[in-house]
Order: sequence, then C-alpha cells, then structure tokens
Amino acid sequence: MKTTADRLELELRDGTPVIVRPLLPEDRPLVVEAYRRLSPESRYQRFWSNTGELLGDRMLDRMIDQDAARHVTWVLLDPAREFPGVGGASWWRGGPDDHEAEISAMVLDADQRRGIGTLMLAVMWLTALRAGLERLVGYSLNDNRQAADWMRDCGGAGHWDGYKLVFRWELDHLDNLPEPAAAADLASWLAVLAPRILPA
Ligand SMILES: CC(C)(COP(=O)(O)OP(=O)(O)OC[C@H]1O[C@@H](n2cnc3c(N)ncnc32)[C@H](O)[C@@H]1OP(=O)(O)O)[C@@H](O)C(=O)NCCC(=O)NCCS
Repeated sequence: MKTTADRLELELRDGTPVIVRPLLPEDRPLVVEAYRRLSPESRYQRFWSNTGELLGDRMLDRMIDQDAARHVTWVLLDPAREFPGVGGASWWRGGPDDHEAEISAMVLDADQRRGIGTLMLAVMWLTALRAGLERLVGYSLNDNRQAADWMRDCGGAGHWDGYKLVFRWELDHLDNLPEPAAAADLASWLAVLAPRILPA
C-alpha cells in the first residue's frame, strides 16, 4: 500500500484548509513539538501517565514505525501556521482479537472541538477497514469526560470494564450512526473519504 499517496487536502467545518496524511519518519520533530505544546491534562489523558514535556524515544519509534496492516498514524496539518501540527490519531492491532484495533487521538488544546478528532476518527475507521479490520476500540479514563463524550457522541458503544471506559465501533456500519452532531459529522466524513481511502 502506498501510504504517501494518501495525502488528503480537506477543509474543516469552519473552512480552514488542512492536510491529512500518514505520519512520515521525517515528522519526528513535529511530533515532539506537538507533544510539548499539549497541556499536561491532555498529555495525561492521551498517555495515562505524567510523562513530562518530552515524549520518550520508544513511544516515538512506535508511532513512526508504520505498517499498514498492524499500525498506522495519521496527522492533520494546518499549512498556514508557523507550527502546522494540529492533531493526530493512530490505530494499533495486536490485542487478543485480531479483527480489532485500538485507536488513540490527540488534538492540540486550543483546537479541540473544531471537529478534528471526528475527522481523524473517520480516517482511522477507513484505513482500518482497508486493512481488513472489523472493529475499532477506544479507551478513556473515567474522568476524561471530553474523550468519553466524544466517543459516545460519535456512536461508539460504551461500557465500563472496572478500570476504564471502553467504546467500540463496528466498521461495516458505515451508514448506521446515531443522532448526535458528532456522529453526523463522522458519517459525512466517512461518505466523503470512503471513495478516496477504500479500494474501488
Ligand atoms: C478527545 C479528543 C481527541 C477529541 O478531539 P476534538 O477535535 O476535540 O473532537 P471533535 O471536535 O471532533 O468532537 C467533539 C465532539 O464530541 C462531543 N463532546 C461532547 N462533550 C464534549 C466535551 N466536553 N468536550 C469535547 N467534545 C465533547 C461533541 O459532540 C463534540 O462536538 P461539538 O463540539 O460539535 O459539540 C481531544 O479532546 C483530545 O485530544 N483530548 C486529549 C487527548 C485524549 O483525551 N485523547 C483520547 C484518548 S486516546
């Protein structure tokens, strides 16, 4: 699969032109800087530990080491900005269920609630479907209302496993998402991007 051909030029719902594409090895400094710019709260919610301002080399290696069948990371860039990195999302396969991958997402604090997480979820959905996956699963700490509400509003079926909130999406339900606005946004991104990401 040619990942560089996946470069998408899109507009956010407020009209901002953005580029959405797979993370490349040369993006390493971009990821380091985006992570440094995150608030400690968002960093904690994404990585579930107080890691300080620097992302460890092992985590960086894991993110950058792309394998379209096992793991992908995509980034959203605003090319008009001095620092273009605004958000990113990944999925990883490797749990006990080989038909399922775990997603994670991160959007810079000042850019949250602009629809970026939902757009990245649509990209994760379609790249996972393209890799033959059947489900995505997202985890949220119990106190991370923002992520939990977002996953729920995007149509994730949620439950509490005694330690964390677990949300699942069945990927073949492309056109069967519930009512909330985020799910409507997700459904419209899926419709726009499916012909560009999925094989004909
Ligand atoms: C979780 C996260 C990725 C969501 O990204 P985002 O770009 O803010 O999400 P969107 O703007 O696409 O969607 C937000 C939607 O979720 C829903 N939502 C409900 N309550 C919400 C809340 N308190 N905050 C944010 N969204 C909320 C709404 O439907 C909202 O859409 P609206 O703003 O149009 O009402 C982002 O907040 C983030 O990076 N958080 C820190 C890291 C993290 O917690 N990652 C998740 C665990 S891996």
